[in-house]
Amino acid sequence: MAQSSITIKKPFDSHVHLRRGAVLRAVTPVTAEKFWGAIVMPNTDPIVATIEQAVENKKEILAALPADTTFKPLMTLYLTKDLTASVIEKIAVDKEKLIYGVKYYPWGYSINSQWGPRDASDASPVLHAMEETGLPLLLHSEVHLNAENHEEDPYDGEKLFLKDTLPRLMDKYPRLKISLEHMSSKLGADFMEKNGKEGKLVATITPHHLVYDRTDAFRTGYRALLNCKPLIKRTEDKNAIRELVKKGLPFISAGTDSAPHPESRKFSSCCVYGAFNAPVALELYTQVFDELGCLDKLEGFLSVNGPRFFGLKPAEETITLVKEDWQVTEPVVTEEGIKIWSVCDKTHGLGNEVIHWKIA
Ligand code: DOR
Ligand code: ZN
Ligand code: ZN
Repeated sequence: MAQSSITIKKPFDSHVHLRRGAVLRAVTPVTAEKFWGAIVMPNTDPIVATIEQAVENKKEILAALPADTTFKPLMTLYLTKDLTASVIEKIAVDKEKLIYGVKYYPWGYSINSQWGPRDASDASPVLHAMEETGLPLLLHSEVHLNAENHEEDPYDGEKLFLKDTLPRLMDKYPRLKISLEHMSSKLGADFMEKNGKEGKLVATITPHHLVYDRTDAFRTGYRALLNCKPLIKRTEDKNAIRELVKKGLPFISAGTDSAPHPESRKFSSCCVYGAFNAPVALELYTQVFDELGCLDKLEGFLSVNGPRFFGLKPAEETITLVKEDWQVTEPVVTEEGIKIWSVCDKTHGLGNEVIHWKIA
């Protein structure tokens, strides 16, 4: 008989954007309801580039939580040209453990990504210190500009990174702990299956790359809600990452990459990149694992593998999901009345989308 409910340890989001200000206050409770903790991305406006800025952003997140929530925001620093090895050493001896990783964004790439080094491996002293102290490097693993500063084909960004940037990085810093964020292609899935290693080289996968392909992303004109980086790719790419999660490998985990933007920036002629999925991420992951017949692998992917990479224990608390149809009919609204639409939205999604799993 088909399984109609599942109870797992409370999930962990290895990659989320919570922003700042009114958007942060609107979206943080949504993530905190479903995940016990999350690795928080530093590409806010302004970016989180120093320990002091991380303290400030964390305070803002904690202040946005409902009183009874124990959600843990685990902060990251943006890899800028100004980051120094001494900051990494300071992070390593911090008893409070504020910072869990350093995030690299490719040059000229996506939201607030203009601050990093031209090439990840240029950040030599910082990366050596990270090797020494075991602080993970989180990679937006795509190449955007070539050596002449010309844009590469955006569908090839991940391929170019895995074929060129990453091997150089791994050669130069063989002990560096690396997480490849939002793995989105068949090439990436094959690469991880071959090279992934628990505690050393891991990857996160989003719900939107597991559920959609680029035909969806272009259906009925251009679907703003699915416009994200890395771009949603071909059916064969989607199927390859689905097959990857089905294997239940210990170095593959959930990272929603939930990326909220006000509707004015999404439904505009120059629609920003970012798929906001916090209201549906957990449910979509469960739906995909059900479709693949591997619900037995869900807990490892959602609740165990992510925390382990960051040196944390899984939650003791559990969460139950049931197989029941529902639809997202409302946006998340900020205190200023700004709407943030989620993927799968009944009206703005692909059209009357139904989600098949629900939190009990
Ligand atoms: O689609 C994306 N949105 N990709 C990124 O790398 C950044 C993110 C954001 O911050 O909105
Ligand atoms: Zn990214
Ligand atoms: Zn992201």
